[in-house]
Amino acid sequence: MTIMNIALIPNTSEHKSDPIYRQIADAIALQIDSGQLQPGSKLPTHRALADQLAVTVGTITRAYAEAERRGLVEARIGAGTYVCQANQPSWVYNYSEQEEEECNFGYNIPPRLDRSDMLKQAMENIAAHPEQLNQMMLYQDPQGLAEHRNIVCGWLQQKGFELDPQRVHFTSGGQHAAQLGLAAFCRSGDTVLVEHVSYPGFLSLARQQQISIKPVEMDEEGLIPASLEAACRLYQPRIIYSTPTLQNPTTVTMGEQRRQDILAICQQHQVLFVEDDVNGLLPTERPTPMVNIDSEQVIHIGGLSKCLAPGLRLGYIQVPTRLQKRLNAALHNHSLMISPLLTGIACELIISGDADRILHQIRTDITQRQQLVAQHLGRFDIQHSPHSFHVWLTLPDYWLLSDFVQAANQQGVVVKSGELFSPPGSTIPPAVRLAISAPFTHRKLEQGLLILSELLGKDPIHDFTL
Ligand SMILES: Cc1ncc(COP(=O)(O)O)c(C=O)c1O
Repeated sequence: MTIMNIALIPNTSEHKSDPIYRQIADAIALQIDSGQLQPGSKLPTHRALADQLAVTVGTITRAYAEAERRGLVEARIGAGTYVCQANQPSWVYNYSEQEEEECNFGYNIPPRLDRSDMLKQAMENIAAHPEQLNQMMLYQDPQGLAEHRNIVCGWLQQKGFELDPQRVHFTSGGQHAAQLGLAAFCRSGDTVLVEHVSYPGFLSLARQQQISIKPVEMDEEGLIPASLEAACRLYQPRIIYSTPTLQNPTTVTMGEQRRQDILAICQQHQVLFVEDDVNGLLPTERPTPMVNIDSEQVIHIGGLSKCLAPGLRLGYIQVPTRLQKRLNAALHNHSLMISPLLTGIACELIISGDADRILHQIRTDITQRQQLVAQHLGRFDIQHSPHSFHVWLTLPDYWLLSDFVQAANQQGVVVKSGELFSPPGSTIPPAVRLAISAPFTHRKLEQGLLILSELLGKDPIHDFTL
């Protein structure tokens, strides 16, 4: 791929009043029109063009964004900016290179691997069957197409999940599944028990539905049975919401015996256990899913966001048989159904083996990232696991939580404060969550880790200048 030079349009009276970034975008347009810049050719990096034209990098960023807005070029994650192909779609995803440069440890997303060829193939396979394509454009059963449920459940069964295609409902991701669970089985004023630090998306959902949230203490294996038992007696909760595998934010995983003990308490108190297993496909080896132990006590939630792509928005939920009708009604009321086109793409990826290949790539990438974490933050108090997207970092006692979050932010590193994971009434832990899969590259990750390591190593009280 050749890197073209871009020459500014001479400053004629016509262009004199235009800001420079727009003049550069005009120059790109002219050079595409004249054939100097060919479709698919790579533009210079922001820095190179800034040097060439003696302008700031910010000006080039604006110029490329303007050219992208006009549909002339496209920014590709991790690869640079390219002149669009002639058959470019009429819309362009506005991805900014600035995003790529950020040390943003905020969101628990899979590493940005290039899945475009696999997705293209999956979509081509679907498009090759016009009859089925037309069928997919009709309203379907809220549960999802039976053929698709068979494929997804078959794949999950191979991985050790005893999920029943007759009972599983597709959802728009795990978050939607949790929302359906609350809508179907809880009323405002009910109580839900959660781990003493928990997934903020669930806490916010419960608050919105005016459900009272009570924290239960955890140890290195998650929910502590004695604390859960006491909370069940005290609050008579409707459900217990937990992430037993690679918990968000602490990364802890419940062992086999603990799972049995927790479910025994649920049975005794007749409380439903919501097993949020969105991270459950990430570890190569893991304890038995709770749903396998007692599928009549467990609401199992999962999805493909972490092991394939969050953009597919494909999740699933299985509830005890006696509650099946209520779930079906809740799904119908919320969204009628999940688009069969999306479940179809997921099925194609599963059948071709690409889903497993992507999962393998994600695991490999995450393990390498976790090795970098161990290398740079190993001397601090961290909880992590080879296949978790995040790290739970307890701060040295000389750092105040809010000061640390702010100090990291000032150095361009975004971390999530322990406060965000704390349900009302629980003690806020002096810890932060680092979503180490979020930085675009390992180089960016390492840069962020170095900044954090340096910050953690110094006592802010004794390190200031007057
Ligand atoms: C514990 C937990 N549950 C649910 C979700 C939502 O995932 P999805 O993208 O499948 O909606 C997340 C996302 O980070 C999560 O961490």
